[in-house]
Amino acid sequence: MSRQGLLEQIAGSFPLIAPSMLKCDFGNLHREVQLLEAGGAKILHMDVMDGHFVPNLSYGAMVIERVRELTELPFEAHLMISDPGKYLDDFLKAGCNVLTIHLEAVSEPRPLLARIREHGALAGLAINPKTPVESLEPFLDAFDLALVMSVEPGFGGQKFIPSALSKLSWLKSRLKPGAFASVDGGIDLETIAATAAVGASLFVAGSAIFEAGDYGQALTELRSRAQMPGTPR
Ligand code: DX5
Ligand code: ZN
Repeated sequence: MSRQGLLEQIAGSFPLIAPSMLKCDFGNLHREVQLLEAGGAKILHMDVMDGHFVPNLSYGAMVIERVRELTELPFEAHLMISDPGKYLDDFLKAGCNVLTIHLEAVSEPRPLLARIREHGALAGLAINPKTPVESLEPFLDAFDLALVMSVEPGFGGQKFIPSALSKLSWLKSRLKPGAFASVDGGIDLETIAATAAVGASLFVAGSAIFEAGDYGQALTELRSRAQMPGTPR
């Protein structure tokens, strides 16, 4: 699919809930993907960690390449790694449709974001909770999505950090046409509406989905909560 087609498909699914494949049952990956797809998931978020950029290890392109065979759903790879440029081609070859790198991991994100776009994928730029959102300003034309971390990256199941809200607000009036904002960490039925109200369109959720008995129900409830951003729970 073309970049434009992918952007339209993703935008057509807003508010889009992206299950974070960090909290899934890795012993039953095939079943997990089937359950998510049957439950209405429209994208899967793959958390890649190198034990260096973040104090945890997860999985890499080899695993994603095999999961790619199980579904047609778009994949977003969230690269929490120190040298994303070194591995970019592996993740593109593995069939990732969205590649998100961290601003803190690179001295100059522009060439990497351009490389991602040249390969027909969407380019994401992520910032950690301690990184000021203004540091995204020079790159507004270079990314398709901004990913605002609302927990310190590395682990699922942490508490939402509210400073993400003012960051999303800042982005809302500055995003280039076609670009969108996403939020990752501590997203659940309590926190999602506030992030939607300040302009997030894509919501990454791990625990809120995988700790729910019924993935489909969790996805539906999160989505409907994001559609009613003015309603406190
Ligand atoms: C954290 C990851 C997140 C995480 C989300 O480093 O980037 O995607 O898995 O998990 P929850 O929703 O449990 O905070
Ligand atoms: Zn993530």
